[in-house]
Amino acid sequence: MDLFDRIKEILKEINDFEVVDSTSLEQFRIKFVGSKNTIKDIFGEIKNVENARKKEFGQEVNALKGAAEEKFSKYQAKMEDQVDTSKYADLDLTAPAGDLQLGSRHPISIVMNRMIDIFAKIGFVVEEEREIEDDWHNFTAMNTPEDHPARDMQDTFYLQNSTVDLLRTHTSSVQSRVMTKTKPPIKIIAPGRVYRNETISARSHCQFHQVEGLYIDKKVNFADMKQTLLYFAREMYGVGTEIRLRPSYFPFTEPSAEMDVWLGTDTESNARLTKGTGWLEVLGCGMVDPKVLDNCGIDSNEYTGYAFGIGIERSAMQMYNITDIRLLFENDVRFLRQFSSLI
Ligand code: PHE
Repeated sequence: MDLFDRIKEILKEINDFEVVDSTSLEQFRIKFVGSKNTIKDIFGEIKNVENARKKEFGQEVNALKGAAEEKFSKYQAKMEDQVDTSKYADLDLTAPAGDLQLGSRHPISIVMNRMIDIFAKIGFVVEEEREIEDDWHNFTAMNTPEDHPARDMQDTFYLQNSTVDLLRTHTSSVQSRVMTKTKPPIKIIAPGRVYRNETISARSHCQFHQVEGLYIDKKVNFADMKQTLLYFAREMYGVGTEIRLRPSYFPFTEPSAEMDVWLGTDTESNARLTKGTGWLEVLGCGMVDPKVLDNCGIDSNEYTGYAFGIGIERSAMQMYNITDIRLLFENDVRFLRQFSSLI
């Protein structure tokens, strides 16, 4: 057949092609627009056209191509506007809705939020900081120089190929961050995750959470700290809760103490958590060492302050009777779903 007649025939095919739904549109696309379409085939025939008519042939094939593309985009737009209602033929708009799958808060978040609320009531403001810290903010500024034995107390994860960048070993690094960037009065709590290179067992993990507290102003004293911590313990563990402060040591506080809360040994889990003593170790605290203030550019002759660091996991385990710390980090939904009724 004459190639020019073939063009006319294809044009007729294009015009006559009935596009009624997305299936026929796809058939049209494959035949006239797609990568292996009929128009391309005929254009390949140009080598058999006599030279004098090559230009005319080219123009006609282009017109053909234009016609096919135009028809395709016209119907494509039309299909997009049209919703295929056949899919919804069985839809019952009066049917009751299915159950909503609500998530649940992680027990660590529940306990942490409760601690934040307790301190927010007496004016502490939440400060969040980085988990990847540098040596200076985590140790040096906190009066723990390089050869200080206290660095052995906390087996530190350093970043690969670095002796400076590390995963913070305590939220106390937030103290130095805040003190170097703000002027007192400072009254913050810093919740967050910390890391230590410890063997993972039912009782300890290489990651855990703390809430750090820091209050710096003129004339802040030990009695202020003790009263604040008693308030915290009673809000957290119940009205009549008793606390005790035991003398302790931290490089960044002087004097330092550890606070225990009386749980008793009446229940098996309280006996276990308190190692039979009845006292649950809740936090470390003390008066901010003047050296730390000076390291961070705060005049220690003018200002004093206290700081404390509360461990979250132990409280969470006590409150929800969790016997293995690893459950808190395994993300097993069968464990997590049990907390869905709590806020
Ligand atoms: N950073 C200490 C720890 O992780 C806790 C602490 C915080 C102690 C603030 C005193 C003051 O053990």
